[in-house]
Amino acid sequence: MQQLTIRRPDDWHLHLRDEVVMQAVLPHSSSWCGRAIIMPNLVPPVTTPEMADKYRQRILAALPEGHNFTPLMVLYLTEATTPAEVRKGASDGIVTAVKLYPAGATTNSDSGVRDIEKVMPVLEEMAEIGLPLLVHGEVTDSDIDIFDREAVFIERVLAPLRKRLPELRIVFEHITTRQAAEFVLAGDDNLGATITPHHLLINRNAILAGGIKPHYYCLPVAKRESHRLALLEAVLADTKKVFLGTDSAPHLDPAKLQPCGCAGIFNAPNTLACLAQLFEAHDALDRLENFTSVYGPEFYRLPVNSDTITLIRHDTAQPAIAPVVTEEGPVTVFDPQIEIFWSIADNC
Ligand code: DOR
Ligand code: ZN
Repeated sequence: MQQLTIRRPDDWHLHLRDEVVMQAVLPHSSSWCGRAIIMPNLVPPVTTPEMADKYRQRILAALPEGHNFTPLMVLYLTEATTPAEVRKGASDGIVTAVKLYPAGATTNSDSGVRDIEKVMPVLEEMAEIGLPLLVHGEVTDSDIDIFDREAVFIERVLAPLRKRLPELRIVFEHITTRQAAEFVLAGDDNLGATITPHHLLINRNAILAGGIKPHYYCLPVAKRESHRLALLEAVLADTKKVFLGTDSAPHLDPAKLQPCGCAGIFNAPNTLACLAQLFEAHDALDRLENFTSVYGPEFYRLPVNSDTITLIRHDTAQPAIAPVVTEEGPVTVFDPQIEIFWSIADNC
């Protein structure tokens, strides 16, 4: 049996939902991560600092005893968001970042941004106060192939925005393509990216080969193998520009297993075990901690967590994780399609 102790990780992109689903999924994150950037795409979306503060309090109230977890709240950017409320939300310590969803790009994004010009005053304010913009980087035009939407977003939206407002601190969320990895690595310190465990482990065959597999469907959708390899290369390069954002996005199984199933992969319960397995396979366990626990806080200008977590490598493959049961139904956990020998030590 082998052990690996690392600084406690954080999750820089997490969907916790609300009410009974939050109650069921929250412990699967708060048991291992110290902080998480909480996505605001609830119904209705978290569009004001007051809503963010109330949501934060609901999360804290749902935390299990003994879990030391800090939710970092994010404002959902709409064309009606004002620079003044963003400034106030940040200076009151409620808002850690603002999320740009192009309208129609993903789950509950209808209130998102249609015309970037309309949000420029808010973005200018954010650039001035150093508040990060988190970007769901996909165009939504129906004439753009879904597998190209991220790459086209770089050309049409992100690159021009970076030119226009280079001081704006941007996290390109859940990148899925070689183009995105190259763009981020070539950028300056005001640009970072989160990468999910699933985009490091699966390609689009997982969704479509041998039958349609809704539990592997998320947005941005997994791309071909060469893109997965580019993401992996970026992570293994041990650069501070990329850090862990699980994009753990639980949906009840019946909402995924239907003719128009929801996008989202629920990976919070096995994120660290999967990553340890992957890094081990690339002889890179010494680089895991930077990705999970160091480069994220660095980008967000926060201290790293002071405590640690221990991972155990067992001699035998660990059983698949059963669906998490909520009062409203089960939520299937990400199956990485490889044997996993790692788990988190019980006392962490
Ligand atoms: O797959 C996804 N699920 N991608 C997103 O951008 C949103 C998320 C969700 O909220 O379900
Ligand atoms: Zn997300």
